[in-house]
Parts: sequence; C-alpha cells; structure tokens
Amino acid sequence: MTVQLNRMFVDPEIRKAALETIESGHYVKGPRASEFESEFARTIGDVHAVSCSSGSTALMLAFKALDMGRGDEVIVPSHTFVATINGFWHYGARPKFVDIDPETYTMDPEKVRKAVTKRTAAIVPVHIYGHPADMAPILELGEELDIPVIGDAAQSHGAKYRGVDIGKLGDMTCYSFFPSKIITVAGEGGMITCKDEELCELLQALKDHGRYPSDPDSKYMSSIAGFNMRLPELLAAIGNVQLKHMEEWIGRRRELAAIYNKELEGVGDLVLPVEKEWARHVYYLYVVRTAASRREALMEHLKKDGISTGIHYPIPVHRMPYIKKAPRLPVTERIVDEILSLPMHPLMTEEEQGEVIASVKAFFKQKR
Ligand SMILES: Cc1ncc(COP(=O)(O)O)c(C=O)c1O
Repeated sequence: MTVQLNRMFVDPEIRKAALETIESGHYVKGPRASEFESEFARTIGDVHAVSCSSGSTALMLAFKALDMGRGDEVIVPSHTFVATINGFWHYGARPKFVDIDPETYTMDPEKVRKAVTKRTAAIVPVHIYGHPADMAPILELGEELDIPVIGDAAQSHGAKYRGVDIGKLGDMTCYSFFPSKIITVAGEGGMITCKDEELCELLQALKDHGRYPSDPDSKYMSSIAGFNMRLPELLAAIGNVQLKHMEEWIGRRRELAAIYNKELEGVGDLVLPVEKEWARHVYYLYVVRTAASRREALMEHLKKDGISTGIHYPIPVHRMPYIKKAPRLPVTERIVDEILSLPMHPLMTEEEQGEVIASVKAFFKQKR
C-alpha cells in the first residue's frame, strides 16, 4: 500500500532512548516508567498516572480496584473494541450494553439512565475514534447513584470535554499505547489516570504482585493478591520521547481532519465525522460512513489505488459468540455496516492525503 492507515514515528532520539535503556541494565520498575507516569499526568494536569502493560490491562486493573465480581453489571457501549468488556468479564461481571449516539458514536447518556439496575457496579463511557463521550450527564448519574465511572480513552489521548481533559473525568481513565494509537511505546503499554491518590497506590500495588510502593517491606511483602502488569523500561523510554510530540501530533491530526472535511463534504452519500461544540476531537481515526451496500466496493476501489482502510469495528461486541444475552441496539447495528476508516496519522503528507481524497471522489463520480 502506498498510503497506510497509520504509521509509527521513529527518530534518532527514540533509537538513542531505546539503546540507552538496553545498556543501562535496568529493565523493570525503573526511572523511565516513573518519568512516563509523572509526565503523562502533567500533560493532563491535576491527576496521578499509573503505567501498565497495555490498554487491556489498564482496564483490568481499574475494574479490579473496584473489586468487580460475579453478579455485577457494567453499563458499556457495544460499539468498541472487545477489550473494554474483557476488562471486567474475567472477574465474573457482565456487560449491560447501551446504544450509541449516531453522530459521535459514543454511548447515549439517556440510554445509560434506563440501563441502571441494583446490580450496576460501573459505567464505562468509551471515547471512541478520538471524540469524547458526552460526560456531564454520565458523571451526574454516577454521582447521584454512587456508581463509579471509568473512561476508556484507549483511542483518545488529549481529547477534551467542555475544555477539560478526559483524563480528569470520572474515577479512572484508561489509555493504550498500542502501535497505532495517538502515542505509542512501540509495543504494548497502557496508563490509568485518577485523582484519588489512595486509588493510585492500590493500582500500583495491583500491577506489581500486590506490593505497595510506599511499603518499606514491599520487596518481599505482598499485601494483596496482584498481577504482573508492569510497563517495561524499554517501552517507557520510547513513550517518554513520543509524549513530547503528542500535542503537535494532535494538532496535525486536526489539520488533516479539517482538510478531509472540506474536500469530502457533499461527496456521494458520505457521512463525515462530527465534532460536537463541547468536544475537542483528536481524530485517532477518521471514520466516514457510506451505504452498507457500497462500502465493500469503496474499500476495494481505494485498495486498487494503493490506499489502505479499516473497519473499526465490523462486529459489535454484543454480537460476539461468547455474549449469550444480546440486546437489540439499532444505531450500533446499522452503523457497523456503514463505517470506514480512512488513512489518518500525523506523518501523512498532503500528497498522500490528496491521493485518498482523489480516489474517494473518483469512486463516487464513476458511481453516478
Ligand atoms: C477502545 C479500546 N479499548 C481498549 C483497548 C485495548 O488496548 P490494548 O490494545 O493496548 O490492550 C483498545 C485498543 O485497541 C481500544 O481501542
């Protein structure tokens, strides 16, 4: 493919940071992961951050910290990556799926209120594609009923809701540093942000065999049953360099999105992404919609022109075979057949983007 869906940034500073870490002899529980935590927290402001081994384990740690277990229900959208649900599934808690807003593709707050039962143990808004969920009504509901809110921000580092970074909203916010994400560690990595210092200490202990960092006996003393879900130093070193570019890359993503918006407006039946007036979209993905009957042909046409595309995601989570009781979710079920992710990453050149735009336009011209 000549135009990739996304591409990782590697420069001499990243290579140097990786090499220095390899030569340092310090591979786990070291200064680089600590620096990554404090710098990530600083970019959000007024929060603590706990690094971990992936976005999936960030969610698993967050749900463990809430003592999630059998009989608990978690209100989640089905239009997400399966990791959102697996984060609590293994503890015996079960999803209570709600439908999404057709413009932002994030959970519909009105549906959330209706989904609450005596068993509701958490609400999990997913900030999908880079657009924040409509947090105010969700947070109000959580406060009113004393239900924790955990944000899945795996796709939305730097996104803002009414001017506030989503890493500050709710009880905990979980991030991923998978290679395609807004920033990456060149492998698997994750982060959890939260305001409560005690909760952060618990997360730190849970990810490190139950050893509290503040406990002087922690080398040999596990106070609780934990996991090994730590972020290796080598990856944290790369994350530290990537983090320095995050704001500039989000700016570039927003510029590219503005060009797509201008050029693709009114082309065929395309539905373009929406940025709500209360949102700062970071465009992790640029997702358009076309008639379900046309999507495959559009993908094929772009592929022939050397342009890669993706579908995020074709099978909604409630339709996965291990989900036994699946509700009807009309908006989710409709849009999963229509969505298509066009190439979007901060290294994309205007020339590459021009090729994508020209190819999409040519497809719809030939269709008329
Ligand atoms: C919405 C969402 N949640 C969770 C995850 C899991 O993150 P990771 O791949 O780092 O485990 C992802 C990653 O793809 C995601 O997109």
